[in-house]
Amino acid sequence: HPAKLVDRFGRVVNYLRVSITDRCDFRCVYCMSEDMVFLPRRHILTLEEIQFICRAFTELGVGKIRVTGGEPLVRKGALDLLRQLGTLPNLNELVMTSNGSKLAHMAHDLRAAGVKRLNISLDTLDPALFKVLTRTGDLENVLKGINVARDAGFQRIKLNAVILKNRNHHEATDLVRFAVDRGLDISFIEEMPLGAVDSHNRAEAYYPSQSIKQDLQRRFGLQAVPHKTGGPSDYFRVVGSETNVGFISPHSANFCASCNRVRLTAEGRLLLCLGNEHSVDLKAVVRQYPGDMPALKQAIIDAMRIKPEKHEFNIHEQPVILRHMSATGG
Ligand code: GTP
Ligand code: 5AD
Ligand code: SF4
Repeated sequence: HPAKLVDRFGRVVNYLRVSITDRCDFRCVYCMSEDMVFLPRRHILTLEEIQFICRAFTELGVGKIRVTGGEPLVRKGALDLLRQLGTLPNLNELVMTSNGSKLAHMAHDLRAAGVKRLNISLDTLDPALFKVLTRTGDLENVLKGINVARDAGFQRIKLNAVILKNRNHHEATDLVRFAVDRGLDISFIEEMPLGAVDSHNRAEAYYPSQSIKQDLQRRFGLQAVPHKTGGPSDYFRVVGSETNVGFISPHSANFCASCNRVRLTAEGRLLLCLGNEHSVDLKAVVRQYPGDMPALKQAIIDAMRIKPEKHEFNIHEQPVILRHMSATGG
């Protein structure tokens, strides 16, 4: 059927990212402040509301939904929601992004619920540094989760590493080796300035994708591949392996021209761009007109008019976007 969600720049929106909770059992330094205050329950969409909004999007041409958080698996009922989303008739791809903390117990259920691909954050293989970067996470538990997930039959598993200069940039080659040995993909991410962080200076921590790419090129060899997931990663194949290495480079290689996505925050705001505040309050719509699918669809269609052309991040100034990544789902 013809695309129904198109913005002013002719970009077709066919990918929805849904943050089902702002809560998380980790406190990653680039994502949250140490004393993060979470949203009160009544401000958060109910699972039924999330399901209803997702159905509207799929009827408007969205074929891919990525469930995110915070950490999506800390929300009670997350599996039930996923199971329901998995039955949406027009949905081709139900995928999820997780910090891995609960995968040792939940990976098989997730796969059974219909989640096709999984992205798991992993910034370091050093247990002490893992503790510094996540503040509350346990590396061994996450590694166990990754192992269980590998055996659960997902189509692909991708690791995500946010790279901070002089913290984990030396580890890129080890992380790729880890991914290659396990047949996983991996993306390296330039940190985005969302919300104030108290543990490091973002300008000093900036480490461009290009530098990692050179290190990897020298060590393994990288080949251009047509691998496309509909996300911002620019992928290369590690020579002689199954592993695709992606680079997500909001600073050094802006990817907004090919943007195909919008976000639903845990609070029910439809956010038109990660790096801007343009949004529409869909929670207000579904609470004012419960069950009114046409009203909701019209609000979503109208929202496309305010999708900004691109994000403009400046890591040398205080962040303009005060919302932390955890409230947005990345
Ligand atoms: P797939 O391509 O479907 O595998 O997923 P993905 O890499 O898009 O999603 P994931 O949840 O793994 O996110 C990886 C990183 O990409 C996170 O840091 C996100 O914040 C970032 N990201 C995803 N979409 C956008 C976007 O539209 N703009 C910006 N600036 N960053 C994005
Ligand atoms: N910049 C870039 N990526 C971030 N993530 C969290 N905070 C940031 C940030 N400030 C990543 C997480 C996760 C993904 C969804 O977003 O590491 O892998
Ligand atoms: Fe939690 Fe992910 Fe944010 Fe880390 S990056 S604190 S795991 S939401």
